[in-house]
Amino acid sequence: MDEEKEFRNRAERRGLPIIREESHKMLVDIVSRLQPRNILEIGTAVGYSGMLMLEASKEAHLLTIEHDDYKVKEARANFESAGFGDRATVVLEDCDYYVSMLALDDENAGKFDFIFLDGPKAQYIKMLESLLILTKHGGTILVDNVLFRGFVRGDKSEMPRRYKTIVKRLEMFLDAVEHHPAIEKYTLHNIEDGMLEIIVK
Ligand SMILES: C[S@@+](CC[C@H](N)C(=O)[O-])C[C@H]1O[C@@H](n2cnc3c(N)ncnc32)[C@H](O)[C@@H]1O
Repeated sequence: MDEEKEFRNRAERRGLPIIREESHKMLVDIVSRLQPRNILEIGTAVGYSGMLMLEASKEAHLLTIEHDDYKVKEARANFESAGFGDRATVVLEDCDYYVSMLALDDENAGKFDFIFLDGPKAQYIKMLESLLILTKHGGTILVDNVLFRGFVRGDKSEMPRRYKTIVKRLEMFLDAVEHHPAIEKYTLHNIEDGMLEIIVK
């Protein structure tokens, strides 16, 4: 626990993106309850949320995607030194491209029992179909930052112009989830930046 806090503090001091505290707790609770074997993560950063998931599900293997070379190196080193080296694969790639490629291979259909979507928010909508293909029946996709600073489906009067695209695309993503025939159920958790829990049919 102290190590986790220290890791978080160090990352925050360096301005590295890292899951917020309540969302962290929700992620760990869900993964502990589900005990997934095959986890896919979009947005590794330096491996913090990945290590939380591997700690919470002892038999799991994690495939995690990050496009920043520097973060990938650091994440690999972090997984290794935390003893997760053989359970974590960090892929240096654009997530949209990589996820589409994975989904094109029939062998990967339904491969993952848990997906943590925490990458580029404006691309969630583009990745949705592929992610649904990759999730097994009854599997879960947990999505962070869906309410994006309260602007998604919220008051936009004070919203900086630079957030316009991200917010619009996240609203499209939520609309798509709400009406998607492959989705059994979804819950929007109004904590921090908004967490969406999707159960796939
Ligand atoms: C919010 S951070 C992930 C935090 C991490 N899940 C954690 O809690 O420890 C999002 C990450 O997605 C990465 N990212 C952004 N666009 C990407 C893309 N197109 N492909 C892959 N990774 C991307 C960023 O470099 C960043 O490290």
